[in-house]
Amino acid sequence: MATYDNPDDVVRLLEEDHQLVQSRLESLSAAPADGRAELFWKLTNDLVRHEVAEEVVVYPAIRDVPGGDAIADARIAEQSEAEEKLAQMEKMDAASPEFSREVATLKAAVLEHAKAEEETAFAMLLGAVPAEQRIELGQRYVKAKDAAPTHPPPHAPDSPPGNVVMGPLAALVDRVRDAAANV
Ligand SMILES: [Fe+2]
Repeated sequence: MATYDNPDDVVRLLEEDHQLVQSRLESLSAAPADGRAELFWKLTNDLVRHEVAEEVVVYPAIRDVPGGDAIADARIAEQSEAEEKLAQMEKMDAASPEFSREVATLKAAVLEHAKAEEETAFAMLLGAVPAEQRIELGQRYVKAKDAAPTHPPPHAPDSPPGNVVMGPLAALVDRVRDAAANV
């Protein structure tokens, strides 16, 4: 019954990444105070790669479909809000109760966004984009997501000095966006 059996189908890959992000959010929510910083960085790394690759590879294909612009604009605005939230959170003490409250807010917003994305953008891909093109998009999506090398978490002693100046999140977004644009 699934219309996207091919493992390279972009919709399948995107849904798998939504599940990964959901499990990262659940792990972070359940983590003890001293384990949050590392899990926050893992979540940030996966979420940023997913969202940037969507913006570079997937949303342009959605904009080509009639009615796609409005969906792309709404979903990308939600992604930008999540990015701002992550940027606020990276400056906080991950062991604090305030951080814990922000995790709950972030989790609710990201899961709501993912559901909206599945019901609008992914449904549009399945309905209006032929399977062969979805497979091609899937291959480009994976390349874009993985184009930037993984760097150590920001608290590691060998973090490059540039990260300290820019903030680890901004540096990551920049790095992934640059690498993704060239795939
Ligand atoms: Fe997504």
